[in-house]
This record gives sequence, structure tokens and C-alpha cells, in this order.
Amino acid sequence: MDDVRARITKDGIRIYEDADFAGMRTAGRVAAEILDAVVPLVVPGATTGAIDDFITEEIRRRGVTSATIGYKGYKHASCISVNHVVCHGIPGAPIPMSKSETISRDLEKRRKDDVLRDGDILNIDVTVIVDGWYGDTSRMYVAGKPSPMAARLIEVTHEGLMRGIAAVKPGNTFGDIGHAIQAYVEAQRMSVVRDFCGHGLGRVFHAPPNVLHYGRAGSGPVLEEGMFFTIEPMVNLGRPETNVLADDWTAVTRDKSLSAQFEHSVGVTATGCEIFTLSPAGKFHPTWG
Ligand code: MF3
Ligand code: CO
Ligand code: CO
Repeated sequence: MDDVRARITKDGIRIYEDADFAGMRTAGRVAAEILDAVVPLVVPGATTGAIDDFITEEIRRRGVTSATIGYKGYKHASCISVNHVVCHGIPGAPIPMSKSETISRDLEKRRKDDVLRDGDILNIDVTVIVDGWYGDTSRMYVAGKPSPMAARLIEVTHEGLMRGIAAVKPGNTFGDIGHAIQAYVEAQRMSVVRDFCGHGLGRVFHAPPNVLHYGRAGSGPVLEEGMFFTIEPMVNLGRPETNVLADDWTAVTRDKSLSAQFEHSVGVTATGCEIFTLSPAGKFHPTWG
């Protein structure tokens, strides 16, 4: 038996056993399959409310549980964060207006609904519970065709996540993960959000440690085989600061610049890591025509 490994580190991080990887693998796959199934729905004219309804139905149909419905009073099966919304966008709620929409005197151009428009970029974040295990993943989608800068932001954010994941192996530290992401993103003249972070997970949604997406190499707790956590960098085209709107959920960039995010749930193995939330259909990174 591998039970000898099960323990909590001095930083409060749970070390899981070999057998626990199977539970995370299944939960992560279900979450990723649901994000795959959403792809054809994300088109100009679609509403975020209808996308969330579809996700709710996919969760029900699979006989699994949403981790977000009822979590701290949240009522939806997904977070849908459009354009300058950084994270925790509420599906079905009016999409916050961008700077140009806000100042536009053309009332037709102003948003009052949750309808996606051509060129909108959005993150959809789904967390499911399967046999007690949590699978948490998010990725970017595009309604129609993105602007060149939006496409570049998506590319850099995805690459930032992958560089963070490449730093995951026993003996490295959480600071090494954050440093890998920050060094890459800032070299592209974009910024890493500081106000939200990744998290330990497993049989719980949010557990120690806070997984920062910035930091100093060699700082923070040392990674050990059997740790489960998310890496979920949010990257802004402009400055990193955020505001939370009056709904107490929706986080936006303070300067209203575009923001992107990708999230995987991972487990540390003897030699590196296993990504639990890989897209079975190979659709993690969006494409556009
Ligand atoms: N899935 C998000 C995360 O990555 C958390 C969403 S909590 C909610 O940690 F309540 F906003 F849904
Ligand atoms: Co998460
Ligand atoms: Co998430």
C-alpha cells in the first residue's frame, strides 16, 4: 500500500496517494469533456445564459455534480468572463460594457444583455464533482473572429499556463511555477493578475496552497509527488489591477483592457506532473476562421 505517503505538509498541503490519481483523472476528464461540448455553441448571437443552461444540462445528463451551484451563494454551473472581465463573470447577466461601448453615443452599440458579439473573447470555467473528486478547468473561446491583439493575448495566456505546468516536478517550488509564467508574460509586454490565484484541490474545491501566477524562482513551498492543484493564470493586455463589480462576483480589469485565462488541474508525479483536465477532443486552445 502507498498509504505511507498520505499526509499534510507543514504548509498545510495534502499529499495524496497513487490510487487518488484515478479519481482526479475521471473528474478532470468530465470537466474537460463538458468544455469540449460547449465549443459549437460559442457564436455571435448566442447568450451566456443559454451556454450555462447547456452546461447545467450536460452535468445533469452525466450524473455528476456542479461544484459552483450553491458555492458561497453562487447560482450557476459556470463562470463566463467576456472581454475585460477577468474571472467570475455571471452567465445570463448583462455583459459589462467595454470602454468604447460605454462612451459610444450610438445606443445600439451599448450592451444591456448577455448576447455575444462578433470578436468577443470569453473564458468559460467549469468545476464538477465526480465520486467526491473535483475537476476544475477553464479555457478561452471566441465568438466569430478575434482582433489580432485579442488573438495574441489568448496565445500568450495559453503559453504562460503551459510554461507554468512545465515547471511542475518534485523538488521545484511553487515560486518556480509563478516565475515561469510571469517572466514569459511580461516579456510579451502583458501583465499577470495578482488578485486571483490557483489553489489546491482534491476532495475539496479550494485548499492550500494559493498558487500564485507570479513570483521568485526558488520561493514558496517545495513541490512533492501527490500534490493536487490548479494553475489558472489571468493575463491582461494592460495593467494587472482588478475591480469587483457591485454584484460581488464579476472581476474586471481596472483599465478595461482585455483579459484572458486558462486553467488546468494537475497532480505532481515522481518525474513531473499529470494534467487531469486535458481536452479529449484536442480543443483546449480555441481556433477561429
Ligand atoms: N472555478 C473557479 C476556480 O477556478 C471558482 C469559481 S467559484 C464560483 O477556482 F463560485 F464563482 F463559481
Ligand atoms: Co480553479
Ligand atoms: Co476554475
